[in-house]
Amino acid sequence: MSDHILVERTEAVQVIRLNRPDKKNAITRAMYDAMAKALREGEADDAVRVHVFLGSPGAFSSGNDLQDFLAIAMGGDHGDDVWDFLIALATATKPVVSGVDGLAIGIGTTIHLHCDMTFATPGSLFRTPFTDLALVPEAASSLLAPRIMGHQRAFALLGMGEGFTAEQALDAGLIWQIVERDHLEDEVMAAAGALEKKPPKALQLAKKLMKGDQEQVLARLRDEGELFLQQLKSDEAREAFTAFMARKK
Ligand code: COA
Repeated sequence: MSDHILVERTEAVQVIRLNRPDKKNAITRAMYDAMAKALREGEADDAVRVHVFLGSPGAFSSGNDLQDFLAIAMGGDHGDDVWDFLIALATATKPVVSGVDGLAIGIGTTIHLHCDMTFATPGSLFRTPFTDLALVPEAASSLLAPRIMGHQRAFALLGMGEGFTAEQALDAGLIWQIVERDHLEDEVMAAAGALEKKPPKALQLAKKLMKGDQEQVLARLRDEGELFLQQLKSDEAREAFTAFMARKK
């Protein structure tokens, strides 16, 4: 288990914490692998009733590690880590609660489209610069975001790359509640604690009914994945990653 992902257990709640603050919690392949494993284990373990995602103060995540993207763009193997994580997240049957403070970029935003309750602090920023990086939306966001917030808002987020404040994310239905920074983790754990006490089968059935046709989501993950990989290896994407790596601060 990578120490960039910490997995903790409180009663029946399994917390997956992104813990790479020096890189604003940019997610490496090893981190996806660790998160996929934790989700799978949590799903298989009857003692776990709720999954929780948390980040660090100031950064939930700055998205996929751009060094990793560059390695794939330069011809490296893409592996199954990201795919495994997305499948585990999209097919999770137990409730998923998340807490965001600060940056939520790329997958740091789209992960919450799969969550059941997301809490965020007032200064949080949700942004998906996919097209600026010559990439396409991922994590089935091209299906889920328009469904949740309507085409125009989803296009602003996923196509235009507009940043959403916590207020805008709330208004768009991307998050459930805005809470003060000092209370974020308490609120997340209180929600998870309330959920863990509910009859688990009924809760899972309720989630399944609300999430709807799983096949559509899986099909969209596959379609996006193919295009994403194709774009990842394009000249325009390579240029965007190299420019980020070479940027002067
Ligand atoms: N991948 C790899 N490293 C990343 C990263 C990412 N996605 N995001 C941030 N980092 C690294 C930076 O390179 C920097 O490393 P260094 O200290 O060794 O130079 C460190 O994290 C801190 O980032 P920095 O850019 O100095 O912080 P900031 O507060 O000025 O800006 C961001 C934060 C997130 C706005 C900016 O880092 C950014 O735009 N990152 C890329 C986001 C992105 O495009 N993600 C992919 C989405 S698909």
